Amino acid sequence: MPNEILTETIGAVGVCRLNRPDKLNAINIPLMEQLVAALEAFDKNPEIRCMLVAGSERAFAAGADIAEMASAGMVEMYIRNQFATWDRIGLVQKPIVAAASGYVLGGGCELMMNCDIIVAAEGTQFGLPEINLGVIPGAGGTQRLTRALGKARAMDLILTGRSIDAAEALAAGLVSRVVPRESYFDAALQVCKDLCTKAPLALRFAKEAVMKNYALTLEEGIQHERKLFYMLFGTQDQKEGMGAFVEKRKANFAGK
Ligand code: HXC
Repeated sequence: MPNEILTETIGAVGVCRLNRPDKLNAINIPLMEQLVAALEAFDKNPEIRCMLVAGSERAFAAGADIAEMASAGMVEMYIRNQFATWDRIGLVQKPIVAAASGYVLGGGCELMMNCDIIVAAEGTQFGLPEINLGVIPGAGGTQRLTRALGKARAMDLILTGRSIDAAEALAAGLVSRVVPRESYFDAALQVCKDLCTKAPLALRFAKEAVMKNYALTLEEGIQHERKLFYMLFGTQDQKEGMGAFVEKRKANFAGK
């Protein structure tokens, strides 16, 4: 099977690069299976503290692979159920940073919205153009975009299929940082390196607590968050982190 993604480790960062540059990283089934397997392997690897997902400068990913889906029928799509693979990204416990650049469209945008922190290059184009193909977003885009941007903007983008650039995406809350194009990968890597200095268990619990916002009511979410917060007081890292603050020194976290 061709390498639809490339992986490497940089310090404690597990890097996954989409690797179909001639197809603008269109996400076919093997690519997603390889990406999810790599993220799961990094998630289990005690040497790794967070993951970085990137495409190429020209395209993070210009969508799901249209050629792969074009002739499929309804029953075939239902049986194939390719989004079951995507769901596994939601089970990854360590933080995932996305380095967004170029085209971030359709399934590419949905993949990006599955990541936890998004660093975007200036000029990046974001959109859910599925409407122009006679379909709708199918990997959570209608739900996640609406959560991220609110109904008015989500309806605008999903019903018209228009793209927005990085500046508009930042203003709308789709991404949290926009950086010069020439340094977007390094900037995303720097975010990862910063995360690597944090208490790993607290990072996991923080991610889990924020993600509960998708599944629970505010009240349930607050109760869940509270339980996780109290649980962290059973870790060495909490003692180290708060002890270091009190002693005015730098914390050194062991992930225990
Ligand atoms: C398959 C794709 C592709 C895609 C680009 N390519 N996007 N192949 N699926 N989503 C291929 C092209 O066919 C072409 O292959 C090569 O990549 C380069 O693309 P060009 O079109 O020649 O480049 P350019 O003229 O610069 O135009 C860039 C573009 C355009 C505006 C991004 O490629 C485009 O509109 N792509 C489709 C965007 C889209 O509709 N995305 C949503 C997909 S549906 P060849 O072999 O000809 O060189 C979707 C459903 C999600 O994502 C459901 C859940 C996952």
